[in-house]
Amino acid sequence: MIFTVAIDGPAAAGKGTISRAMAERFGFAHLDTGSLYRAVGVKNGDPVAAARGLTPDDLERDDLRSLAVGQAASRVAVIPEVRAALLEFQRRFARREGGAVLDGRDIGTVICPEAEVKLYVTASPEVRAHRRWLELGGDEAQVLAEVRERDARDMGRVDAPLRPAADAVLIDTSEMTIGEAVELAAAAVEAALRRAGPG
Ligand code: DC
Repeated sequence: MIFTVAIDGPAAAGKGTISRAMAERFGFAHLDTGSLYRAVGVKNGDPVAAARGLTPDDLERDDLRSLAVGQAASRVAVIPEVRAALLEFQRRFARREGGAVLDGRDIGTVICPEAEVKLYVTASPEVRAHRRWLELGGDEAQVLAEVRERDARDMGRVDAPLRPAADAVLIDTSEMTIGEAVELAAAAVEAALRRAGPG
């Protein structure tokens, strides 16, 4: 079965948790596409060469989750050649046999416009900054400033900007528990599986 769940949205909206839950519940493979851009952003030197030479080991580094690496990822993600170098791998992953969940910024719009399910997971900047601050600590006002800066860059870039696909289901998690958001997402996946039919 070829079946893709595309999950897009801004930083700290809950995409990662929802994606992992969908992969586990439905037995699909999962790719956190932000980790590709983080693995490129954390490297010194030419980001285009880094993107072209990325290896599975690069994605396993344990320093990829910091705010600084998130900003570095967002900066290299505006470079069209970096995006182009990462495109084929993501497309193949999306259409692999057995079903796949990909989360990122452009999955439903660019990587896999034919995805059977598209979710756009969002929350207010204040709520997202508060979640990141609980996770990583630091100065909450500074975290909020960085969330806004990253949103502006990810939404404002020319190549594959962050925006909901026309046919995406919107999930605003600002006033939801993670459990509620996961159930909404699961209902959308179940409806699409019924539409796709057996096999
Ligand atoms: O989801 P994340 O916070 O790990 O993503 C880090 C950055 O990578 C994000 O700010 C923009 C970039 N990114 C992207 O441009 N396209 C994707 N599909 C995923 C991430």
